[in-house]
Amino acid sequence: MFDTMTVTKAAGALIGSLLFLLLMSWAASGIYNVGSAGHGEGAEHAQAYTIPVETAAAGGGEAAAKDEGPDFATVLASADPAAGEKVFGKCKACHKTDGSDSTGPHLNGVVGRPVASAAGFNYSDGMKAHATEAPVWTPEAIEHFITNPKAAVKGTKMAFAGLPKVEDRANLISYLETLK
Ligand code: HEC
Repeated sequence: MFDTMTVTKAAGALIGSLLFLLLMSWAASGIYNVGSAGHGEGAEHAQAYTIPVETAAAGGGEAAAKDEGPDFATVLASADPAAGEKVFGKCKACHKTDGSDSTGPHLNGVVGRPVASAAGFNYSDGMKAHATEAPVWTPEAIEHFITNPKAAVKGTKMAFAGLPKVEDRANLISYLETLK
């Protein structure tokens, strides 16, 4: 015999089951969509990852291009002594070109001169040691020194940061070559 309570329970169970199925299908489609969106993102991530790799490759290319810049000998061959005289303005505070020494030794005749050889000038131990390793101020030796003095000659007392531009160094050395 069906009483009201039994009918209510049966209807409730049926409605509950339908509601459960509805929720399951909704959840399943939700999972499917999320899954597909996730896949899409994954694909984008793969691309986003490729870009830094390309950037790194481009960075390497730039570094390589820097190394491939004109070398000192090439720049020196077409250097401009008049432009070098202006660059020498940065050296004038310490170096004279009339044969007398001041804070630094005189620089007339320095191209081709033995390192640390200005008579009476009190060179640092670092510069005296350098003279045993690289005895002559060839254009290349001066170029190396004035690029970064402290790095080229350990313990030098020449307080000068260096000339970063190869053109400045070449022009300056072509000017020094004119000073006997
Ligand atoms: C702040 C002062 C100062 C400035 C600026 C300076 N020098 Fe010097 N320079 C010195 C001193 C001091 C020495 C001696 C270094 C030592 O004994 O370690 C020296 C040494 C040198 C030597 C070695 C000479 C030798 O007889 O062995 C050369 C070459 C030289 N300088 C070039 C230059 C050039 C080129 C510039 C400009 C781009 C320059 N210096 C700027 C102070 C200076």
